[in-house]
Amino acid sequence: MTNPYDIAFKRSIEDPDGFWAEAAQDCHWYKPWDKVLDDSNKPFYRWFTGGQINTCYNALDFHIENGRGDQHALIYDSPVTDTIKKYTYSELRDETARFAGVLQDLGVEKGDRVLIYMPMIPQAVISMLACARIGAVHSVVFGGFAANELATRINDAKPKVIVSASCGIEVARIIAYKPLLDEAIEMSAADARPRRCVIFQRPMETASMIDGRDVDWNDAMDSAQPADCVPVAATDPLYILYTSGTTGEPKGVVRDHGGHVVALKWSMKAIYNVDAGDVYWAASDVGWVVGHSYIVYGPLFRGCTTILFEGKPVGTPDAGVFWRVISEHKVNCLFTAPTAFRAIKREDPNGELIKDYDLSSFKALFLAGERLDPDTLKWAESKLGVPVIDHWWQTETGWAICANCLGIHQFPVKEGSPTKPAPGWNLHVVDPDNQPVKTGEIGALVVKLPLPPGSLPTLWNNDQRYIESYLEEFPGYYKTADAGFIDEDGYAFVMTRTDDIINVAGHRLSTGAMEEILADHPDVAECAVLGVEDELKGQVPVGFVVLNAGVDRDHDAIIKEVIQMVRERIGPVASFKTATVVKRLPKTRSGKILRGTIQKIADNKEYKMPATIDDPTILEEMEEALTGIGYARAKK
Ligand code: COA
Ligand code: AMP
Repeated sequence: MTNPYDIAFKRSIEDPDGFWAEAAQDCHWYKPWDKVLDDSNKPFYRWFTGGQINTCYNALDFHIENGRGDQHALIYDSPVTDTIKKYTYSELRDETARFAGVLQDLGVEKGDRVLIYMPMIPQAVISMLACARIGAVHSVVFGGFAANELATRINDAKPKVIVSASCGIEVARIIAYKPLLDEAIEMSAADARPRRCVIFQRPMETASMIDGRDVDWNDAMDSAQPADCVPVAATDPLYILYTSGTTGEPKGVVRDHGGHVVALKWSMKAIYNVDAGDVYWAASDVGWVVGHSYIVYGPLFRGCTTILFEGKPVGTPDAGVFWRVISEHKVNCLFTAPTAFRAIKREDPNGELIKDYDLSSFKALFLAGERLDPDTLKWAESKLGVPVIDHWWQTETGWAICANCLGIHQFPVKEGSPTKPAPGWNLHVVDPDNQPVKTGEIGALVVKLPLPPGSLPTLWNNDQRYIESYLEEFPGYYKTADAGFIDEDGYAFVMTRTDDIINVAGHRLSTGAMEEILADHPDVAECAVLGVEDELKGQVPVGFVVLNAGVDRDHDAIIKEVIQMVRERIGPVASFKTATVVKRLPKTRSGKILRGTIQKIADNKEYKMPATIDDPTILEEMEEALTGIGYARAKK
């Protein structure tokens, strides 16, 4: 027991009540909890039962009452519209309270769902906080999803109101959001459709409004009265965030109020080592969990200034934009995905653009969302001269399972490792029989229950799927669905997913969902979609289709069609751009597609001939097909 991390970690596991009650003292409660950890309804553990809290109060009003009203809460930096707009805590609270009034005027009450489909503009953050203010449950949907995905979420969440904007802006084009929204509402079940939609009109694209249903954001704000914070139970849901599951049906990850405020506020200091008044920037999107936890909630709970960046790491206008934002707003801590750094490194390999900016405020870079490759780690370390911290987490967990907790104790970095379990995360590695493996051996990464506060208590309206997806395979543990190992120094290594999830540019996608779409094509008899290595995006999906007997159409035309189908049904974010026709798929004798082997062939890596393969010549056919589309032997 030699360092503060060991002490904190041990206490969090042995005395979770004491550990998290202490963290909770830092937050505002209308009524204190009766129980810190409530295990009366296992496996549904709850935190801070009996407590009454308001998330928006903790994010905004609390700081105003503690003298931070004039400090910047949010800086909106949008290179794509050439705008910088700053909101003090008082200004952000006032706008939020007014929009909460708008929602109330539209009939939104505590527990009602509000779906938010918006680009990275302040109105997205205001909408989220306004929901929290009145106890409504928000569900933000990422803008890169197609109407069909949006409809799936509408059907599941049954929102009373949807908040959207006329458009989003990608590097070279405007994405009209409203037609996608209208289409999604049209596609959704009649009993799930929203009563009203609030639309923020952006100057570059005016959305047409549907009379009686659609309300203009500005008009609604003009006539609304500000609404006060409504105390809610600590265990009430704050938001639902849909994430890819192993089928086309996304999982609605639920986050509660109390545990979320406590864990995120604590994590800002313990993990990121930032204090009130510091400037924190998570370059992600509010549609992802990183955006929820670390663009909106975490930094505001802590009293930081958060940056809302509507741009890309490259092309808006160049690979120096991250350095411009850091120097202009005196950012202390940046959190993004390794893909962003790979994109910057590709455009500016020597980091020439860094030299144009004063980065003296900058203290640490955190990366997550996908594996951090050693090249990117070393490049960032050498070019920036600050600690570069890999940390591992998931939509479900809400905050890092493993990290180098800079606010507790900084460990030396080991390449390929997100360091050690953060306090609260009792991480183990087990074999398929749920037995611990030896140190250094690969197995399933699982977390002994209960999970710490801030992690998912269940899936929206689907306790059974929660149990089946996460708790059933390894009794007593939460299954992360990542495989990896823990070394002799206690460092964790996250190697690969054990399901069909892939990470494309830090975006989580299900290859199973893509396969469902390919299989829908009338000429396709069988198909497989796999994640193969990509220099920029980490992984990209590649499809293989076996055609029905007798189909003699042009293969290229069929491939174009399946690619278009994925784009239309999942959205451009799937980055599904490559597929090929094959005669058959390699399978085991029991009929399982040999995904791991195909992946290795695609990545031009050594592979062992699987013992269970029916006909080995099929692998030669796969290699040929993959070479033809730029993988296998065609890959450098
Ligand atoms: N709304 C609409 N479309 C969107 C979108 C949004 N919010 N976000 C992405 N898209 C579209 C893109 O325009 C692109 O469309 P295209 O196929 O027509 O070109 C497609 O979805 C894929 O987007 P993306 O994976 O982001 O690739 P890209 O080539 O546009 O950009 C990077 C590459 C590296 C610049 C970009 O992926 C990036 O900034 N990554 C950083 C990682 C990150 O923020 N991850 C979030 C989780 S932490
Ligand atoms: P998401 O739910 O989108 O955050 O994706 C979670 C998944 O991304 C995890 O289960 C991992 O597979 C992967 N992931 C996230 N962070 C890391 C990391 N630091 N190292 C390796 N994989 C990661």
